[in-house]
Amino acid sequence: MEQVRVGVIGLGAIGERLIQGFNANKQTVVTAVVDMDKERATKMAEKLGRINWYDNHKDMLAKEELDLVYVAVPPKFHHAVTMAVIEKGIHVLCEKPLANSVEEAKEMFEKAEQAGIIHAMNFPLNYSNPANTFDRMIKEGYIGNLRKLELSMNFPNWPRLWQQNDWVAGREQGGFVLEVGVHFIQLTQRIFGSIAYLNSWLELPEDTSKCETGVIATLELEDGTPILINGMSQIAGTERIAYTAYGTDGTLSLVDWGKLEGGKLGEEILPIEMEKEETTTLIDHLVAAIAGKESQLYTFKGGYEAQVILEKLRNI
Ligand SMILES: NC(=O)c1ccc[n+]([C@@H]2O[C@H](COP(=O)([O-])OP(=O)(O)OC[C@H]3O[C@@H](n4cnc5c(N)ncnc54)[C@H](O)[C@@H]3O)[C@@H](O)[C@H]2O)c1
Repeated sequence: MEQVRVGVIGLGAIGERLIQGFNANKQTVVTAVVDMDKERATKMAEKLGRINWYDNHKDMLAKEELDLVYVAVPPKFHHAVTMAVIEKGIHVLCEKPLANSVEEAKEMFEKAEQAGIIHAMNFPLNYSNPANTFDRMIKEGYIGNLRKLELSMNFPNWPRLWQQNDWVAGREQGGFVLEVGVHFIQLTQRIFGSIAYLNSWLELPEDTSKCETGVIATLELEDGTPILINGMSQIAGTERIAYTAYGTDGTLSLVDWGKLEGGKLGEEILPIEMEKEETTTLIDHLVAAIAGKESQLYTFKGGYEAQVILEKLRNI
């Protein structure tokens, strides 16, 4: 099969990470890049072997022959940029969150479906061994019947030191509820089914341009099982993100994205060793989908469903 030609829009920390993934995969190759920051675009194009670069996504879409476009611009630009890709009828991978409002997310999902293209979200937990082991252990009955889900997020610094840019710190399209919370909203919907929002409280700085520094929210699964989201930034200690399922027989947590901890009733909570599994990547699944083969993609439908809950939590 010919290599899948990929155009990448947005060359920040995340765009760059996936470019490495595309070029490490024998079946995909990045053939054009876009960033509104010309210097970034030219530097990346040079680094990738003098491929074509643009400072505007419309120019790339008009001039390049592409099989797939990856959208990695900040959230408030996802809608405009992705809609332009959909209008061209090109397969699209969009960063999370899908959009910056429920209305935008709905339109993106509906138009992508109508266009008959492959549309996928980058929610990396879906392709991670720890998150998938968590899912499997729950389904195999490790915790018994689920009594409560809890997402706890502690950030000594938000934005984190490796992601210092204005938008991540801003209320309009940043904050840890949006940036981090959305991964676990989507994971919850995937593993446990639909979620209903009950209520939330945000600690918001006086400066209305700055994002939340605290959240407490309650939600529930369809059968009434409660979900608690409890997060805070600008605090002492170290960063810790724990997604915990409390059951009738035990407790299981996915900690800091990559570790599992758990115990049966009456036991201590201890680290759980995971078997090494051959994990297929998001890029493998995109290639399969484009070739018309069976694949496991999390589409704009999931992006939209997560956005519905996300916007209720952000409450702004
Ligand atoms: N999937 C994940 O695990 C994960 C993790 C972190 C961030 N993200 C998402 O990835 C996206 C990018 O995040 P980042 O940290 O790389 O951001 P960033 O600010 O570091 O980089 C964004 C880049 O996009 C460029 N840009 C902005 N608007 C543009 C436009 N309209 N057209 C062309 N270029 C434009 C900027 O110049 C910048 O180079 C965000 O949506 C974020 O939520 C995903």
